[in-house]
Amino acid sequence: MDMQRMEPVGRSEVGEEKISPVGGPGTAIRAEDLTKDYGEGESVVHALRGVDVSFDQGMFTAIMGPSGSGKSTLMHTLAGLDSVTRGHVYLNMVNATGLSEGRKKFRGQRGEVDLTTLNDNQLTLLRRRNLGFIFQSFNLLPMFTARQNIETPLTLDGGRPDREWMDLLVRTLGLEGRLDHRPSELSGGQQQRVAIARALITKPSIVFADEPTGNLDSLSSAEVLGFLRRSVRELGQTVIMVTHDPLAASYADRALVFSDGRVVADQEKPTVEIMNDLMAKDSQTLLDPPRVPLQADGAPRVRREGDVPDDGGALRPSGPSMSER
Ligand SMILES: Nc1ncnc2c1ncn2[C@@H]1O[C@H](COP(=O)(O)OP(=O)(O)O)[C@@H](O)[C@H]1O
Ligand SMILES: [Mg+2]
Repeated sequence: MDMQRMEPVGRSEVGEEKISPVGGPGTAIRAEDLTKDYGEGESVVHALRGVDVSFDQGMFTAIMGPSGSGKSTLMHTLAGLDSVTRGHVYLNMVNATGLSEGRKKFRGQRGEVDLTTLNDNQLTLLRRRNLGFIFQSFNLLPMFTARQNIETPLTLDGGRPDREWMDLLVRTLGLEGRLDHRPSELSGGQQQRVAIARALITKPSIVFADEPTGNLDSLSSAEVLGFLRRSVRELGQTVIMVTHDPLAASYADRALVFSDGRVVADQEKPTVEIMNDLMAKDSQTLLDPPRVPLQADGAPRVRREGDVPDDGGALRPSGPSMSER
């Protein structure tokens, strides 16, 4: 496989930081000059300012950075949930797994597919089969049971769940006995684990998680992070996770720090100490004056009634834009 690799670029205006991909068996997804503006004219917000970044297959990457720095926008544009103003998002179809039917549709596309060139139908299909998304606010359908929620991505396609895979997910995520319950009857941790199972049921090649532990107590967080790490180690999953918790980032193989729409640091094997230092450095030298987000963090676009936080101790409000600073 001769994967197109992203060369280190000097585009970052932060200066000496070299933003280069960490080596690995292949690129899962990468962005080139990814630019996203919200609004126009005087009220324009430059959410992404020409981001070049590459994510390796089978790696767990954390993305940190202050509220409003563009983390959710990066995730949404990478996952094809939001359009881009300029630039490209290349999904590596060679590394994409579990997409037998999706592959047929995209036959001929041997190497990479530029998500920004696809029409809505193509994107929906590709996304459903290749990309899983876990939201901070879970986004479960309140009228559906846990099982129905998990199976949604398949039933939408008229597909049937792979029994063994379903059983493995349910067992690993400790959801036995909870499958016939609705979200309102589950704790926050259980709801997020249902959302993780839903994201993984199609065996996507990449899982995006936007502050997946933001509404969880520390015990549930550890469970969720532990599972994400295992899915990388044992199942070869590629995981890209936004978090503002250095402890959560320390579960990852690599951590990027975002500031004002750019990657400003790229850390291999992040530890709590390293990430604390990087974030402190970032807030001293790089932080913009606070801007008022137009939308609570961008991530929970679809907030549901069933979104109840866990009843544990370490609760954070679900609009992290205020508390993150
Ligand atoms: N739908 C939107 N409309 C207008 N501005 C937005 C929208 N979503 C995000 N933004 C703005 O883009 C910037 C980046 O937001 P976001 O990606 O949500 O940051 P983060 O996830 O790092 O907190 C912020 O200034 C935010 O207010
Ligand atoms: Mg966000």
